[in-house]
Amino acid sequence: MYRTHTCGELNLTFKGSNVTLSGWIHKSRDLGGMTFIDLRDRYGITQLVFNMETDSKLCEKARKLGREFVIQASGKVEERSNKNPKIQTGDIEIIVSELKVISKSELPPFTIDDDTDGGEELRMKYRYLDLRRAPVKNNILLRHRVAREVRKYMDAQGFVEIETPVLMKSTPEGARDFVVPSRLQPGTFYALPQSPQTFKQLLMVSGFDKYFQLVKCFRDEDLRADRQPEFTQIDCEMSFVEQNDVLLTFEGLAKNIFSVIKGIEFKEPFLRLSYQDAMNSYGSDKPDLRFGMIINELTSLVKGKNFVVFDSSDYIGAICADGCSEYSRKQLDELTEFVKRPQIGAKGLVYVKYGTDGTLKSSADKFYSQEQLAQWANVTGAKPGDLLLLLAGDRKNTLTALSELRLEMARRLGLRDPGKFAPLWVVDFPLLDWDEEAKRYYAMHHPFTSPKLEDLQMMETEPGKVRANAYDLVVNGVEIGGGSIRIHDSAVQKLMFKVLGFTEEEAEFQFGFLLNAFKYGAPPHGGIALGFDRLVALLGGQDSIRDFIAFPKNNSGRDVMIDTPAPISDQQLDELMLNIRKDKNK
Ligand code: AMO
Repeated sequence: MYRTHTCGELNLTFKGSNVTLSGWIHKSRDLGGMTFIDLRDRYGITQLVFNMETDSKLCEKARKLGREFVIQASGKVEERSNKNPKIQTGDIEIIVSELKVISKSELPPFTIDDDTDGGEELRMKYRYLDLRRAPVKNNILLRHRVAREVRKYMDAQGFVEIETPVLMKSTPEGARDFVVPSRLQPGTFYALPQSPQTFKQLLMVSGFDKYFQLVKCFRDEDLRADRQPEFTQIDCEMSFVEQNDVLLTFEGLAKNIFSVIKGIEFKEPFLRLSYQDAMNSYGSDKPDLRFGMIINELTSLVKGKNFVVFDSSDYIGAICADGCSEYSRKQLDELTEFVKRPQIGAKGLVYVKYGTDGTLKSSADKFYSQEQLAQWANVTGAKPGDLLLLLAGDRKNTLTALSELRLEMARRLGLRDPGKFAPLWVVDFPLLDWDEEAKRYYAMHHPFTSPKLEDLQMMETEPGKVRANAYDLVVNGVEIGGGSIRIHDSAVQKLMFKVLGFTEEEAEFQFGFLLNAFKYGAPPHGGIALGFDRLVALLGGQDSIRDFIAFPKNNSGRDVMIDTPAPISDQQLDELMLNIRKDKNK
């Protein structure tokens, strides 16, 4: 028997008991007459005590043990004179009478501590050691608890978990595929699923009615803090439903998770905001609603007063930062630099300081009277003590820049509290997205998304105006999930392919299996997929999903621990009948 208890469970009720623990040496302190070892396992840390006076041999042995050795220790549970309220077992210690070294450890490349000295790259290279650290370990345990709750809830709602293939065909999510060459049919390739979208629709044709799966998805796209090349979705599909049925079901799931995991009860229905309203008021289709600072359009109010910056712009919008009228020159310069960054792309920033004495001071003073500035303040709801920030340019880019500025101001003002959650549904997305370069429409979601029936007559005349039965779940400015009601009528599907510029042959080649299936009685259906990694990171109060995945990839898509992607042998290439081009690095 390696242990009678774990390192996280002993307390004063065990006082006087003889116990055996096994674990890693977290820390060791040698105080001459006494040696203390903090023994760690998944469950916690327990203090072991070795006394030179009562057992000098054992104490000498303990002194020689290094960090991260795996040991087994037996002894008696005693009350600590110097209690540690920070740990679960802080009231007790073990007076050790037997000690066995199970496995030695080399000196770890970084300290296995909450605040480690290891940089990101090193932690990833030795991820198995990083996972010993409490903050990362707790993230993985949180992930497990959320997964368990998801399964419980979905099962209770009558959803069936069904696995779908990983070796499949290109899926229509719009990213690049990861491909796998076939040995048995040389020159042909599987694609890894960007999502199980087509399979879950087929399962509806099969009559399963309610499907879900915690499933790995693969997308070859540029990585960010909230994007990994392989990630996990809570993927779902339901039959005989309309948009509202799907929203209510998954609002229920989200509320249940917030309640069980965070103890937060959302009593009111989640806000539903149209895509258009989200863009106009927040400049983003994933607004962070933990704070207000709504964008107000000032175009008609400010144009035509000889201020060339505004007169030459299609759109002028403003946000109001509460209590910032005292911002210094330096702070305003910083904000100007911020909006001028290439990734934000504004040309400059105009401000109005609404002093606590009621005076209005603006960087565009020359062109506007106090009365005019007061009008701006009125429209934006600014009060004495506030700061108005205005950006101008073309509508789309300026709204996006205002959105970034809004988030930056909120960050500066401490309004993005990770302990606060503001969920909402963004609905009524446009069906199509115009690509100026390619001069064609793309499906904003995917080609099976149903247009709103009332907009159907515009499909061929004004396709850009057609709205979709598509929706996103957004929390704290993060897109947690997205889905739609699907097209189940072959005439509408044909029209959609036509608008997207697919020939019948192309549609047949890519999605023939699904279109065929729809010929055999397709129920109306719709669904959603939630980004599981993002959901867990959100619940864990962090922006990056990396530390919520046991073995993540770095920003270049590499696993630096197992050192992959890596070349394969010539023999493997031969079997697959593949050649690597000599100019591969170009
Ligand atoms: P979508 O492409 O919106 O929809 O994906 C659903 C959710 O998955 C998460 N997500 C990601 N998470 C981490 N890394 C990534 N690279 C990544 N890409 C997406 C996001 C996103 O909201 N088949 C449709 C769903 C449907 O229509 O039912 C789909 O995959 O949180």
